Amino acid sequence: MPAHQFILNGQSVSVELPSDVPLLWVLRDVLGVKGPKYGCGVGVCGACTSHLDGEAFRPCIHPVGELTGREVMTIEGLGASGLHPVQEAWIAEDVAQCGFCQPGQIMAAVALLRTNVQPSDADIDAAMSDNVCRCGTYVRIRAAIKRAAL
Ligand code: FES
Repeated sequence: MPAHQFILNGQSVSVELPSDVPLLWVLRDVLGVKGPKYGCGVGVCGACTSHLDGEAFRPCIHPVGELTGREVMTIEGLGASGLHPVQEAWIAEDVAQCGFCQPGQIMAAVALLRTNVQPSDADIDAAMSDNVCRCGTYVRIRAAIKRAAL
């Protein structure tokens, strides 16, 4: 079985698996990294949103064989050395309800703010519209992104 080496939350990891296993399964079931959630498994809900080389991506549709030498960050890495300002804003705005989608929401928000430091409501809605929240926390998500952008 091929070995796949990549950087996960700042640490080098190597896994021996078929190349077509989606990264989300590797993270959750092999490496025990549970922050990225399984929602749809086909790249449409955003629950697994993490970062690949600093940009938002969906590990459920990226096979582990694509990742050699690349850098993956999950919500665990984002908060590893203290809460990120976006996480602090999430707490201040009391965003989470059931919480299931929130790691993916936060990772998408961090990626948005890296490229747009003062997003408008329309910018936020456009960037976040593919991250689904069954509890409907969208108004608080928008408020938290605006708070983090201050
Ligand atoms: Fe990855 Fe839905 S579980 S986008």
